[in-house]
Amino acid sequence: GKGMSDEEKIFTYNGVLYPSIMCPEETLKRLDSIQAREDDVMLVAYPKCGFNWMVGVLRKIIGEATGKKMDSKTPPLIEFSAPEYLKVIEQDPSPRLLGTHIHPDNIPASFFEKKTKMLVVFRNPKDTLVSFYHFYQNNPVLPSGQSWETFFSNFMSGEVAWGSYFEHAKAWEKRMDDPNIMVVTYEELKEDLSMGVRNISRFFGFQLTEEQVQQIAEGSTFRAMREKSNDSHAGMGKVFFRKGEVGDWKNNFTPEQSQKMDEVFKAELEGTRLGAKLNY
Ligand code: A3P
Repeated sequence: GKGMSDEEKIFTYNGVLYPSIMCPEETLKRLDSIQAREDDVMLVAYPKCGFNWMVGVLRKIIGEATGKKMDSKTPPLIEFSAPEYLKVIEQDPSPRLLGTHIHPDNIPASFFEKKTKMLVVFRNPKDTLVSFYHFYQNNPVLPSGQSWETFFSNFMSGEVAWGSYFEHAKAWEKRMDDPNIMVVTYEELKEDLSMGVRNISRFFGFQLTEEQVQQIAEGSTFRAMREKSNDSHAGMGKVFFRKGEVGDWKNNFTPEQSQKMDEVFKAELEGTRLGAKLNY
């Protein structure tokens, strides 16, 4: 993607921006042909909320609980890469680990029809924005020419890859009572990863011993994952495993930007359960 202009790196599909190399239009058009299975392990996260962290955790949980050999090279995004990848998904034996950054309204309907269990990860919007900004700067397949100020206003208006943080949050808020959906936050996971691993494996119906839970949590700290990340992210480990902290926004936001985010957050999410979980 290094030879492409910023304009070529991103395109609009159904009113939402997508990175053109990661998510070719051809793949997006064929997404609905994916046949969900009841025993799929589906991971959903708005970009930069901790998707790759949970990919690591879920691979370990499935591997430990079922003995299935989990691929550690490809990020399991259904909207990712070439249309041929959909064939790979089709042939993958259960339990499959699948993931997406796509808004729930655009997730293939069969996942909801089959009542596939979905783990949904959110993160406070300020740290998400900071992480996203650095990702835009450092990932060659994303436009890097935007200043912090421009990226800030694009994030606030939803003109970033995979769309508006607030639209995603409001849509999941409506589904929080659905028994097939488990919402966790980045902050909760940072606070107590063992509990996260325990609850997530239970939710998906996997039996793990307390020893396995502890071992998975220890292997999934930021430091542990960053060290191993060069094998799994084609030399871009440091781009995906940047800082791994809560509150980095304080190093980036101006007081005005912080206030602006607080106002929008209030208007969009105040009084909701997800809003309360994300109270930063
Ligand atoms: P920062 O940019 O704030 O460091 P995603 O995987 O959804 O793209 O999210 C990336 C963010 O999750 C990055 O945040 C990254 O550092 C952080 N992250 C990745 N692995 C982590 C881990 N094991 N523990 C805590 N944070 C992690």
